[in-house]
Amino acid sequence: MNDDREYLFQNYGERLPAAFIKGDGSYLYDQDNKKYVDFLSGIAVSALGYSHPAYQKALHGQIDRIIHSSNLFLNQEQIEAARLISETSFPGKSLFVNSGTEANEAAIKLARRYGLSIHRKKFKIVTFTGSFHGRTFGSMSATAQSKIHGGFGPIVPGFIYAPYNDKKAIRKILKRDKHIAAVMLELIQGESGINVADADFVKEIFETCNQKGILTIIDEVQTGIGRTGQTYVHQHYNVTPDILTLAKGLGGGVPIGAIHAKNFLSEHFPQGSHGTTFGGNHLASAAAAAVLNEVRKKQFVSAVNASSVYMFDRLKKIKQKTGYIKSLRGMGLHIGVEIAGDGKQLVKDALEEKLILNCVAGNVIRIMPPLNISMKTLEEGMDIFEKLILKNGESYENTPHKQ
Ligand SMILES: Cc1ncc(COP(=O)(O)O)c(C=O)c1O
Repeated sequence: MNDDREYLFQNYGERLPAAFIKGDGSYLYDQDNKKYVDFLSGIAVSALGYSHPAYQKALHGQIDRIIHSSNLFLNQEQIEAARLISETSFPGKSLFVNSGTEANEAAIKLARRYGLSIHRKKFKIVTFTGSFHGRTFGSMSATAQSKIHGGFGPIVPGFIYAPYNDKKAIRKILKRDKHIAAVMLELIQGESGINVADADFVKEIFETCNQKGILTIIDEVQTGIGRTGQTYVHQHYNVTPDILTLAKGLGGGVPIGAIHAKNFLSEHFPQGSHGTTFGGNHLASAAAAAVLNEVRKKQFVSAVNASSVYMFDRLKKIKQKTGYIKSLRGMGLHIGVEIAGDGKQLVKDALEEKLILNCVAGNVIRIMPPLNISMKTLEEGMDIFEKLILKNGESYENTPHKQ
């Protein structure tokens, strides 16, 4: 395998020593044809796993017909993808982009344009500590983490960072500041350790925003498309955002992002106000439509929930055996296991055992398998995981804690 340092920026640090060349179901195969259980799905992207027949058929057919024509022309696949988003979330309009970052960038622009044109001076956007919204200047500035801003000079003004899950603090901010156009949040913060929003906190945000004419933006780049056991995580909270942002699982591996907004917002992106060359091209939209057609099936999401019950049950049992697991977090197949040790090392050890895991926030193991993973494969992955955890737990000094 060639060294990647000669030709590639090293912004991702040292990469894990596996180069995958094919996938099948929820397994990946490396250059030596060694088989791995995938508990990551390319960071919540490969929602249907690998070599999914309907998805592959849709993509092969689309490649044979047309890949790209541009947003200057009508695009049936794009209209179909937008229809499916509307039907599975709420009635509204979609705009397609190429990534989660770009979806959030578009949401920020739409919220500011709306706030400034309707209320004249409303342009501020409240986001939350520990959030992650992306890497462009707007979405990076929305991300309330100084480590993401470091070294780039002045960030985009107009963002207010509020403490996550602090009901009183958000109420105070929203009541005091008359220039707030929108509140933007993740209902489960993925990158900072699978932190789940409290129902009360979310209720407070939606009620106050409603009273004050402030827009709500839910970033579902990571939580959307069935990941949490509902098609969209906001459905667990019985709230409907004004703007929803999507990417990752939406294309099942083909890059695509989207904003979906209530109909009253559509006039605030008039001709010339926003756009992209590639966004929602024929191939990406066909991929999104194929994914949504699977995820919208009742049995798809109920299988995610059954898998989730198995995973949390199994993890709770492992937790009872060792103090090495400090907490379990998440919903559906969006799972965080906080450990009393170095998560990165555990990820490396797991890879040697042919299990693909990921670590966020230093010590939270993130488990996000393909959504259609079989019970047998889940079990196989969990057997490896349990062995590793118990082995690490042996050297852990604290007495095992009770549930
Ligand atoms: C919640 C959330 N928003 C936005 C992004 C950025 O998405 P992308 O990497 O596709 O630009 C991510 C990526 O991890 C994310 O988890």
